[in-house]
Amino acid sequence: MVQPILKWAGGKRQLLDELYARFPESYDHYHEPFFGGGALFFDLEPANGTINDANSRLVNFYKQVRDNPEELIEQLESFDDPESDVDPYHEFAHENHKGKEIKNYFYQQRARFNKRPYGYEYDTLEEAALLLYLNRTCYNGLYRENSNGGFNAPIGRYANPDWVQRDRIRKASRVLQNTEIYNGDFDYVLDAAEEGDLVYFDPPYEPMSPTANFNDYSQEGFDRDDQERLLEVAQELGENGVSVILSNSGVMYDLYEEAGFEVDIEGATRAINSDATNRDEVDEIVATNVSEQARSEGGQQAITDF
Ligand SMILES: C[S@@+](CC[C@H](N)C(=O)[O-])C[C@H]1O[C@@H](n2cnc3c(N)ncnc32)[C@H](O)[C@@H]1O
Repeated sequence: MVQPILKWAGGKRQLLDELYARFPESYDHYHEPFFGGGALFFDLEPANGTINDANSRLVNFYKQVRDNPEELIEQLESFDDPESDVDPYHEFAHENHKGKEIKNYFYQQRARFNKRPYGYEYDTLEEAALLLYLNRTCYNGLYRENSNGGFNAPIGRYANPDWVQRDRIRKASRVLQNTEIYNGDFDYVLDAAEEGDLVYFDPPYEPMSPTANFNDYSQEGFDRDDQERLLEVAQELGENGVSVILSNSGVMYDLYEEAGFEVDIEGATRAINSDATNRDEVDEIVATNVSEQARSEGGQQAITDF
């Protein structure tokens, strides 16, 4: 059981037992097309398979973790405290891309991380190190982009932020060794998954109400058409003999039930809004095509609890 490295919106650590309860007795390869922080993947430590996310900087991060863990750690060790003064030897020591004055090291790091979306040349290892640095030092620790794809979370308040995370990086690197990492739309899994495989879908949740706005993980939003496309992909996988487990918000209950999936409301109330006075409570569903008879009795979670 490995801990996720990044904190990510919609992280599924609190749902793990419910997901494991639906695992089939056995499966060949494991696929996770909406990876984010990869809470289930890292807990499960699958022997092989594929992961994917639409966010290119997130995907670059996991490739660096898999292929260059020690270089990544070295870069992270070279970074300074977020409240420090800017480093005059690095780019963006005084102004960001928009000509706005930079006052401290955190905002300098943020401007450097935003080289890619603003069309500057960037280094993939440095970008990956910056992603983890910002994740550990920004407000609420959550990834947020503006409409240009620029990361825009402000500095957080941490007594002693630890952005190096040697142990988690080394362990995650080991788990990722036999995993293919994709950066695209979730539908790649139609080609990647074969009969006998298992797919876990954790898409951006369909909002419960028109005002809820918690599906903007990246500049590509995930709309109702994407939700319908996802249902079709899940059905096609089922027809190909692939086991599918999916989590989503309660509004998707009927759609999955009508399509023949076994659907349960988890009733989990998740805090999805960083504003503590305005936390929406969300019904969560877990849908699967794995029949009760075909399920294992608990999977890895039960074994580690033993
Ligand atoms: C709910 S999060 C996944 C959370 C993850 N299970 C965890 O434990 O942290 C959804 C992810 O889907 C990604 N995404 C959005 N649209 C996508 C698409 N069309 N195809 C693949 N991934 C997409 C987002 O970038 C985000 O990381």
